Amino acid sequence: MKHLLISAISALVIGAGAIAATPAQAAGGESHVENIDFSFEGPFGTYDQQQLRRGFQVYREVCSACHGLKFVAYRTLADADGLGMNPDWVRAFAATHDVIDKETGEERPGKETDHFPTVTGIGMGPDLSLMAKARAGFHGPYGLGINQLIHGIGGPEYIYSVLTGYTGEDKEEAGSIFYENHTFPGGWIAMPPPLSEDLIEYEDGTPASVEQMAQDVSAFLMWTAEPKLMPRKRWGFVAVLLLAVFSALLYLTNKKLWAPHKGKDFHL
Ligand code: HEC
Repeated sequence: MKHLLISAISALVIGAGAIAATPAQAAGGESHVENIDFSFEGPFGTYDQQQLRRGFQVYREVCSACHGLKFVAYRTLADADGLGMNPDWVRAFAATHDVIDKETGEERPGKETDHFPTVTGIGMGPDLSLMAKARAGFHGPYGLGINQLIHGIGGPEYIYSVLTGYTGEDKEEAGSIFYENHTFPGGWIAMPPPLSEDLIEYEDGTPASVEQMAQDVSAFLMWTAEPKLMPRKRWGFVAVLLLAVFSALLYLTNKKLWAPHKGKDFHL
């Protein structure tokens, strides 16, 4: 039992050391990523539904002009663990987008089972459905994973930092304009700064500062990449509890089974 206690304590100490060490490493990296305490980080973190809805509004009114969300089905907008939008609203929203029917090959209004459009063409950006996971890594991959567990995977922080990382400089190269950005790898990005103060008017009345919109849309894009984050955490917690109970039972059973064979003066 004593040994068990000692190893548990040393695991904790090593873990704490890893948490303390990472900000210094991150600061040494070439691209600058801001740390944000999102509500969904940590083992018990959950999405903030109001924030997801605001972020969706930013996506709808700003980003959707150049970025698709091809892996996201409209119906998931009604999920209670996510945005929890009214199903009637979702149906009406889907119907405002025309889609090509896979069976008939003809254009028809979208249904809630369809996906968001794919956006392609000159000047358009990459699909954002999985961007929050594709750009994860700010809090790792070094260490024991404790940092990711507590502070999240870092993808939403990266998106936030790209959106707020413009310096105001731009340059023309081979007929295209590039904007200086101290988060985007290489320092120059082809995306014009998409956000500006009060660009949109939030439906819930929140003041639309650049930082606010950047945080909200990053949280929304975390949701598009991980719509099942909350149920996954819930079941993970149940699994850990069950494992703890079974481990205790196993330990006690083992002790009882071997008790008759262990003499009083027998020690390892
Ligand atoms: C005018 C079109 C346009 C708008 C509007 C726009 N983007 Fe982009 N975005 C682009 C283009 C083009 C790129 C590709 C940039 C490059 O590769 O240099 C890009 C790239 C990105 C990237 C990828 C960075 C990477 O690491 O590859 C992210 C994230 C992103 N945009 C998020 C957003 C968000 C969020 C919004 C809405 C707030 C938005 N964009 C609005 C055109 C746009």
